[in-house]
Amino acid sequence: MRNPWIVGVSGASGTPYAAALLRGLFDAGESVDLVVSRAARLTILDETGAAFRDAHWKDDLSRWLGRDLDGADVAHWPAGDLAAGPSSGSYPARGMVVVPASTAACAGIAIGLSKDLLQRAAEVNLKERRRVVVVPRETPVTRSHLTHLIALHDAGAVVLPASPGFYGAGAGASAQQLIDFVAGKALDALGVSHTLFRRWRGELGS
Ligand SMILES: Cc1cc2nc3c(=O)[nH]c(=O)nc-3n(C[C@H](O)[C@H](O)[C@H](O)COP(=O)(O)O)c2cc1C
Repeated sequence: MRNPWIVGVSGASGTPYAAALLRGLFDAGESVDLVVSRAARLTILDETGAAFRDAHWKDDLSRWLGRDLDGADVAHWPAGDLAAGPSSGSYPARGMVVVPASTAACAGIAIGLSKDLLQRAAEVNLKERRRVVVVPRETPVTRSHLTHLIALHDAGAVVLPASPGFYGAGAGASAQQLIDFVAGKALDALGVSHTLFRRWRGELGS
């Protein structure tokens, strides 16, 4: 039986984090169901110059990730489709990552708003006690943002801010190394192996 990770891309800045995570999941041979919110289409357009359209999702995803998707086990559900598979707890998902997670998505998931498939699928995976990772991207934050993150933590989610570490990569860390650090930490939280960053070995400056 197919047992995919649901990857929800919401409309916060940071779509390169989503691209790095998706590449990592495909490289590890994992199955993925992708949900891209309406607002995320704006951030993808702004940050990559490319459109993401439901009708052409496979071509658009391939262009976004900069690679051929042949061999990748990937499905796509429109964000407005509240009858889609991942909206039910009986759908055999392994868990879910919301990357990047907008403050709006964090709020909606935390209070059970389910305003679209992304929010509904995250709530479903939380209630089924599956692994849920949210990667919020906003700064500075209000008390209400923090309250929603605490609610997500208390509901069982791993709250993994898009906050890259600079160790390992050295003073000349590239943007891609910092992006891969965050994506790698999200894969660690899912228990998916990867080589996106060099692990700390206890040797300063090496
Ligand atoms: C270019 C652009 C960048 C944005 N960056 C952020 C961001 O970094 N963090 C955030 O929480 N919202 C950001 N927003 C606002 C969200 O897109 C907006 O709150 C939206 O309602 C989120 O909807 P969603 O959670 O359904 O994707 C951004 C919007 C745009 C157009």
